[in-house]
Amino acid sequence: MRYSLLIFLMIVFSCTPSEKAENEKQLSIEIKEWGKLPNGQTVQLFTLSNANGVSLSITNYGGIVTSIFAPDREGKLSDVTLGFDNLEGYLKETPYFGAIVGRYGNRIANGTFTLDGNTYTLAKNNGKNHLHGGEKGFDKVVWDAEKIEGKDQVGVQLSYLSKDREEGYPGNLNVTVTYTLNTKNQWKIDYKATTDKKTVVNLTNHAYFNLTGEPKNAVLNHELSIAASHFLPVDSTLIPLGELKEVSGTPFDFIIPKKIGSRVEEDDTQLNYGRGYDHCWVFDDQSGKMKFAASVFEPASGRLMNVYTTEPAVQFYGGNFLNGTLIGKGGTPYQFRTGMCLETQHYPNSPNQPEFPSTVLNPGEVYQSSTIYEFITK
Ligand code: GLA
Repeated sequence: MRYSLLIFLMIVFSCTPSEKAENEKQLSIEIKEWGKLPNGQTVQLFTLSNANGVSLSITNYGGIVTSIFAPDREGKLSDVTLGFDNLEGYLKETPYFGAIVGRYGNRIANGTFTLDGNTYTLAKNNGKNHLHGGEKGFDKVVWDAEKIEGKDQVGVQLSYLSKDREEGYPGNLNVTVTYTLNTKNQWKIDYKATTDKKTVVNLTNHAYFNLTGEPKNAVLNHELSIAASHFLPVDSTLIPLGELKEVSGTPFDFIIPKKIGSRVEEDDTQLNYGRGYDHCWVFDDQSGKMKFAASVFEPASGRLMNVYTTEPAVQFYGGNFLNGTLIGKGGTPYQFRTGMCLETQHYPNSPNQPEFPSTVLNPGEVYQSSTIYEFITK
């Protein structure tokens, strides 16, 4: 009798910690219909969650991440990304909130480039330049979506065939973007693409972060670090001049964490061109391997976001075009600099600047790129 009691107690005590461990590992994925496009096509919403309370909602319209819930240092969960409450919001006007950006993220000067003697003409949708894939880029198309359920991660795999000459780009481009959430509060994005004709590719995600969790606040108190001793100075239309400039001694120095607001108002030609920060930083590590890229710390909430990437650069955009006219989630008008983006990518205008790392994709090659956004506290 006593022996069986002992066995019973042993089972109870040996089960409890492992059950706990099992709970901590718990990951879930929920899928629902989210709305309809004007052509009647149904769009879905995938919500990935882990046992720490972190959750990401993703729609297959534009591959948009519509919410990111992350805990503060007290464990309180808040949504740390900008966006709209429903699909209609995204169909009206959006500055790429949370979306996949392609076929070429960032600018291509004068909306044109040449490959093997063939000149391609793209939409000039940003003054005289082409921006973020054109009039109907990857942020405005419906992606095929499949859920992923693994031991340590859940996710959604998005696929899209961008046809030859779509938005003026050559080649049928087969694109896969996989979003996963793991037990370590990491949102990982894996991009893959293949083509049947020489083309250019530069994919990124355009999530806007506000780690206060209350986007009525500006992001100027966020402390930013970027693992880059150089950035790309631009002309007045935000096309790189070609030189890599040292950040040292300039308002672009984020090697050691610094408040975004600390120097943004300085009278600096580059800041004037960008209306603040809207520039490309070139990482010191150009190995193409996954590396630490940037971090953002919000001191009041304790939220810390670390960014890792295989990409050579990041466009840090400080929300300078937000002006209160867009009414976001919960009826919040998104005011000047209330969101910031860290868009991992190749350099802007690379198709026209042969000295930059190449963005050309040839048939038979596989474009591959990965980025991780990690949500922890300090
Ligand atoms: C990018 C650009 C900015 C702006 C935003 C969208 O990050 O660099 O200039 O166009 O997208 O508003």
